[in-house]
Amino acid sequence: MTTRADNARLRTLVDDLNRHLRLYHQQDAPEISDAEYDRRFRALEGLERELGVVLADSPTRRVGAPPAEGFAPAEHRVPMLSLDNAMNEAELRAFAERVAKQLDREAAFALLGEPKLDGAGVELLYERGELAVGSTRGDGRVGEDVTANLRQLGSVPLALRGDAGSFAERVSVRGEVVMPLASFARLNKSRAARGLAAFVNPRNAAAGALRQLHEIDLERLRSLEFRAYAIGEGAPAAALRQRDLVAALEAWGFETSPRWRVCEDVDAALAYYGELLAQRAALPMEIDGVVFKVDELALQRDLGELARVPRWAIASKFPAQQETTLVEEIFASVGRTGAITPVARLRPVFVGGVTVSNASLHNQDEIDRKDVRVGDTVVIQRAGDVIPQIVSVVLAERPADALPFKLPRGCPVCGAEVVRAEGDAVTRCPNRACPAQLRNRLLHMAGRGALDIDGLGEKIVAQLIERELVNALPDVFALDEATLAGLPRMGEKSAAKLMAALARAKDTTLPRFLVALGIPEVGVNVADLLASQFGELDALISASAEQLTAIDGVGPVIAERVAHYFADETQRAEVARFRELGVRWPALARREPGAAGEGPLAGKTFVLTGTLPTLSRLDAQSRFEAAGGSVTGQVSKKTSYVVAGEAAGGKLRKAAELGVSVIDEAALLELLSR
Ligand code: IVH
Repeated sequence: MTTRADNARLRTLVDDLNRHLRLYHQQDAPEISDAEYDRRFRALEGLERELGVVLADSPTRRVGAPPAEGFAPAEHRVPMLSLDNAMNEAELRAFAERVAKQLDREAAFALLGEPKLDGAGVELLYERGELAVGSTRGDGRVGEDVTANLRQLGSVPLALRGDAGSFAERVSVRGEVVMPLASFARLNKSRAARGLAAFVNPRNAAAGALRQLHEIDLERLRSLEFRAYAIGEGAPAAALRQRDLVAALEAWGFETSPRWRVCEDVDAALAYYGELLAQRAALPMEIDGVVFKVDELALQRDLGELARVPRWAIASKFPAQQETTLVEEIFASVGRTGAITPVARLRPVFVGGVTVSNASLHNQDEIDRKDVRVGDTVVIQRAGDVIPQIVSVVLAERPADALPFKLPRGCPVCGAEVVRAEGDAVTRCPNRACPAQLRNRLLHMAGRGALDIDGLGEKIVAQLIERELVNALPDVFALDEATLAGLPRMGEKSAAKLMAALARAKDTTLPRFLVALGIPEVGVNVADLLASQFGELDALISASAEQLTAIDGVGPVIAERVAHYFADETQRAEVARFRELGVRWPALARREPGAAGEGPLAGKTFVLTGTLPTLSRLDAQSRFEAAGGSVTGQVSKKTSYVVAGEAAGGKLRKAAELGVSVIDEAALLELLSR
């Protein structure tokens, strides 16, 4: 017996899911993350099972949404099904057990694994080898005729390759239309420049591009790629296994899912899943899991299909990279250069493999553009080791009283009136003595890429500033052990340790010292470049912006920042004080501008990304340079190698896109030893 309350619950869930299906499939503008959709879908499935009732319009009865108005309907003679999901290892194993049980066999059966491309499913119908109709999946039985648009894609063959005997009269090829990440980034950039809202993800951008009706943007269409993975009608009679179908598709001239593999059993399937998950961030297109299909077509037939999904295939999903959560507060954080960054404090949410509770909103313009408000529900994204970002606001869930957010007019730490220069997106606290700036400058100076002062952490820095023991960076080198030992929760041992660390830190290198100063725009790479060009500090201090700009790799912004920094009397006095207190570095051999180094790596350029197992960044860099190579920060076509360590992210992807070789530390050491 179902009660009225049960029915109401069912109705609400069905209506809610149907609304989100329409937003996703027809408007290409989802409001909730896929993970959230999956959760609600599973809740509905559970409730239907519990009550034994499935409403007539329940989304569990169908895939996708019916064709939108404006497109001619296109029927799929063989329905285009969806896939069941496995959210973890146990669910994949349960799938394999179910299959084995249904087939009533003990022996393992092979699974063909393919990346689950995150795009829009389409069908291409070929009549006598020629492309006749191209359609979206729609509700699985009837889709939208988007032939004209699909014909623009370079990877959609207009005719099948091979003579007439090599394919059936009617052949329908299924696959995914995706937008590569590079094109997606380009598209959103150009949209932003035109004042248009950014697409939430490449999949929606792809689906939207395919379904353009008027004023068709050809460039956007041509940036799409088609990858084939199945045959609806007209599979070659000789094909006995899924892998034979993939081979037939390739022979006909289609590109198939990259890196597909036959896995002999579930363990092999899990290993394949792990490998793809690790490569995820480096792939040129987004994938959200792995699809496993029983390889033997005869077994597929024995297993059969349910209304919505086949019994012989499953999608092993990757952890979600997008989630929805709540903005609980927006606060302003003051950085070491005085830049005031608005940060959203979020209700903690697990996304991209970590729990995220903060996301930078960058600056006032960014807040205005996204119109993020306290109380908003937002879509959060974290891909690879990329910092979490707010992708969009779910306007439908905005509380009625939510107000637009404006940065305060006073610095939230020292109260100084903030400034925003014309043409600058950044709002700044102008007070260099602001405790927040000093704190962050000190922490930066103590960091691994700078003076590497072990034990000078957040707590002790806060105490030193609060007690006014440190009012400027060099002051830490004037501290004495007794003072340190007298600080709360410090003790003699820690004080002695910190004193030793400070003493060690005094012997440094010029690049490290330059990083430690915290000059805006001067990070490890720029500091190294400046040090190698000038060899000693005094020459750099007296260099003009013009002299600096003349250096290859130093642009006008960096040049201006550096010149401006050293033009300031206070800064020069600070540098002098460092020296008085015993901070020193060896002079470097000055490298002629533009002169190529000598050694086994002469002329080679490297980009480092991620954490290497044994070498620090600076070590790796000095070794390259000793061998004649150079290090740059950005991957380009000219990069010889990208050296990737743990948690490498966007640069790896870029390398894959540009076809730049990627090596690990072991391979690097091998190169260096030649
Ligand atoms: S096979 C009967 N293979 O994922 C099997 N689908 O969530 C039907 N997808 O509708 C699909 N990559 O749009 C298959 N290698 C792949 C896929 C794939 C992505 C999409 C496809 C499907 C959806 C199901």
